[in-house]
Amino acid sequence: MIRSEAVEAAFRRVPRHLFVPAGTSIEEAYSADAAPPTKKDVEGQIISSVSAPFLQAQMLEQAQLHPGASVLEIGSGGYNAALIAEVVGPAGRVVSVDIDPDVTAWAREALDASGYGNRVETVCADAEHGLAGSSVFDAIIVTVGAWDIPPAWLTQLDHDGTLSVPLRMNGVTRSIAFARQADHLASTSAEVCGFVPMQGLGERRERVLQLPDGHGRYVRLRFDTGAPEDPNLLDGVLADMKVRVWSGVEFPNGVSFADLHLWNACFLPGFCKVAADEGTELAQDRKSWFPFGCVFIDSFAYLAVRPAMDGAGIEFGAGAYGPNGEQAAAAMVEQIQAWDRRARRGPVPTFGFWPDGSDRSHIPDHVALLEKHHGLVTVSWPRASRP
Ligand SMILES: C[S@@+](CC[C@H](N)C(=O)[O-])C[C@H]1O[C@@H](n2cnc3c(N)ncnc32)[C@H](O)[C@@H]1O
Repeated sequence: MIRSEAVEAAFRRVPRHLFVPAGTSIEEAYSADAAPPTKKDVEGQIISSVSAPFLQAQMLEQAQLHPGASVLEIGSGGYNAALIAEVVGPAGRVVSVDIDPDVTAWAREALDASGYGNRVETVCADAEHGLAGSSVFDAIIVTVGAWDIPPAWLTQLDHDGTLSVPLRMNGVTRSIAFARQADHLASTSAEVCGFVPMQGLGERRERVLQLPDGHGRYVRLRFDTGAPEDPNLLDGVLADMKVRVWSGVEFPNGVSFADLHLWNACFLPGFCKVAADEGTELAQDRKSWFPFGCVFIDSFAYLAVRPAMDGAGIEFGAGAYGPNGEQAAAAMVEQIQAWDRRARRGPVPTFGFWPDGSDRSHIPDHVALLEKHHGLVTVSWPRASRP
């Protein structure tokens, strides 16, 4: 993920082991994809961590920082702020804001201990409001999963500035670098990522529907938007006969199908994420895959796979339960095929954010629209407009 000399130099200089919790092994501290947790909530969910180095490198590259730049980091921990301080150099400015006083205290201590104390300012506040005062930054790097882009972030972003944000779109997150384009934001890059969720005013909880299998185990459907109006219609659905429909769309092993996931989040009605307890029929079917699904009235479908290409690949399809299972499966297969036909071989999708008050008549046709509290997110597959 490191693509520039400046980011490489920062990773070589900042001692990551001084920013991870005591007891973390040196191997874990420097593992490219380990994110040691620093705080859990009362339910045991991780709410703060030292982000994985691969993600930090990815976001630093996306932000395209230059020496002397001023940067607002949203979500603290110390380590990433120190990396930013290295990249922007002594003429730059780094402010790191976190909603949790424990996290800012921890970050302050680690920054002081590692020699970055006077190069990073830390502030304890809900970043929904940006940074108190009227500062404008060359870059804002959000290191916590955001559902929306609050107005304060745009007010505090310089005209030519970059906003890098892990944005959740119907349950699917991409780390997106945005630049201003007239009255809206247009993406300059986007990468697959995962982050702990935003707390405070910008928190957005998913709605979870628990489907019992009759043996004390559950299949859980998580909805970001579009949760069923009457969830009772799905009572007992797992006992209802299962159907399978195959799409003819094949994929070689080892190739990411993250784009298919995003396409379905944008276009498949009733889209949800699916998790199944060990021992349920669904868990046996899916093994370790991370599937998605959709609800159709009293039935639900999930992404199914079977071996293809003589064992060198897989074919996608849909499994479904419930009286209208065939329709649910057909709706999913239709989108798998649409993605294969219209988006799969084309350029990567681009993203837009149209804040409230922007002129939406300029939004192109054939883009996916995701309504937020403070504006509209658009997702566009450049070839998708062609017949
Ligand atoms: C993944 S951690 C940040 C990692 C950090 N940047 C690092 O150096 O690795 C995400 C942080 O976002 C913070 N956070 C969550 N909601 C926030 C909000 N509304 N405003 C500011 N910080 C928030 C959490 O307290 C948590 O510490």
